[in-house]
Amino acid sequence: MKEKGRPQGKKKARGLFIVFEGIDGSGKSTQVERLARRLRRRGLEVVTLREPTQGKWGRKIRELSRTSGSVTPEEELELFIRDRRENVVKNIRPALEAGKTIILDRYYFSTLAYQGARGLSLEEIRRRHRKFAVVPDLVFILDVPVSTGLRRIKDRPIIYGHFEEKEYLKKVRKIFLSFRDPQCLVVDGRPAAAAIHRKVWSLLVKKFPELK
Ligand code: ADP
Ligand code: TYD
Repeated sequence: MKEKGRPQGKKKARGLFIVFEGIDGSGKSTQVERLARRLRRRGLEVVTLREPTQGKWGRKIRELSRTSGSVTPEEELELFIRDRRENVVKNIRPALEAGKTIILDRYYFSTLAYQGARGLSLEEIRRRHRKFAVVPDLVFILDVPVSTGLRRIKDRPIIYGHFEEKEYLKKVRKIFLSFRDPQCLVVDGRPAAAAIHRKVWSLLVKKFPELK
């Protein structure tokens, strides 16, 4: 991929790094899969990842989140950061350096939104990530009203305790909509999945016209 700021020449160019964010049920996993299929058809080598991961810290997060209220916001932050650091070191950096494209379902913007909504300082969360987190090329924030997100996931077997309380998710959504990072693009998550995908694709090729 020829683009300013990417290593060129003999070394293989760094792959694209795309993130999907949004509240639970906003349609992230659905869009990750659609975009991955499309990029693979274009001949790109695509790796899809998600956070929390299936690693030891990710498993610990899932275990604790089933028992609502048992973890302080600070402990939660530590666990998500450990899980993410492991993901960056083991999966994200190596794949990007090998020229692969990464599509990631949740990243540090989720920590800003969810742990920020539990009262932690956004500046402090950002500071903790600056030390290790690769900055993505593009972040799609899928936006849906909390009632829509919850309706879509009402049949999900695992209940993440406080993660899914309505008032809490309203705060989370508000933080997602407040980001002014140049990579963050808010996309309406209410239309049908195919229409959202078309929008995502058009925004992506606008930024990376060589994908067309
Ligand atoms: P997330 O990963 O953000 O939690 P999912 O992609 O798993 O969301 O979608 C949650 C549920 O909503 C799934 O059952 C999925 O099939 C459905 N869904 C996804 N996108 C849409 C959409 N645009 N419109 C209606 N339902 C959707
Ligand atoms: P996830 O497995 O993505 O759930 P879902 O498939 O329902 O979207 O994430 C589990 C929960 O963890 C989700 O409610 C959001 C929360 N979370 C945080 O609070 N902070 C974070 O940094 C991340 C990555 C997730």
